[in-house]
Amino acid sequence: MKFSLIAAAACTLASSAFAAPAWSAWPNNCLAQSTATDIVNQYITILNHYDVKAANATAQTLLADDYIEISDSILSLEGQPLNQTTFAGKQLYINGVLNAPPVEGISTLQVLVAGCDQILWQWVFTGIGSKVAQVKGFNLFGLNAQNQIKTVHLEFNSIAWGLDTGYQVIFPPGPPPS
Ligand SMILES: *[C@@H]1O[C@H](CO)[C@@H](O)[C@H](O)[C@H]1NC(C)=O
Ligand SMILES: *[C@@H]1O[C@H](CO)[C@@H](O)[C@H](O)[C@H]1NC(C)=O
Repeated sequence: MKFSLIAAAACTLASSAFAAPAWSAWPNNCLAQSTATDIVNQYITILNHYDVKAANATAQTLLADDYIEISDSILSLEGQPLNQTTFAGKQLYINGVLNAPPVEGISTLQVLVAGCDQILWQWVFTGIGSKVAQVKGFNLFGLNAQNQIKTVHLEFNSIAWGLDTGYQVIFPPGPPPS
């Protein structure tokens, strides 16, 4: 019963696709998986910037002029009020990231195309500071019409990052909060 309902729904979808050429053309305007993977790989070369000049050239092309980064995880580590940009402006970001030490030990867990103009990147960094803890996180990239990165929402395990970079983490007394 269930199967036949699904099969019937699939037939309806298939026939409406034939009936509506605009709808069947839609995927062509969407992001291909290979493009998403390529964008993430370029972004990684900016983070690790083993070759600063090449990373800068990549960043100039890859990032939109009105680039912004938003991350409560970073604001928490900085002790700043939450829900504000951590970088606003392409050159500020590029110089900030390229003048900082390379982010090392970057591994991609998944690159997912999210709709037609967003990419979700799940990652783990194993090379932060003292490397005592791996740091897992997600970047949600928003792209402009030229497939340049315009917004990055990024959240990660900031306690692990803090442990790696010398923060003193003091657990509250009593059983762990659930
Ligand atoms: C966070 O900031 C955005 C953009 O400024 C705003 O729309 C949103 O309401 C804010 N959220 C909270 C919980 O303050
Ligand atoms: C990156 O390139 C821009 C434009 O050429 C330049 O102004 C900037 O100083 C460079 N930044 C670094 C860190 O090399």
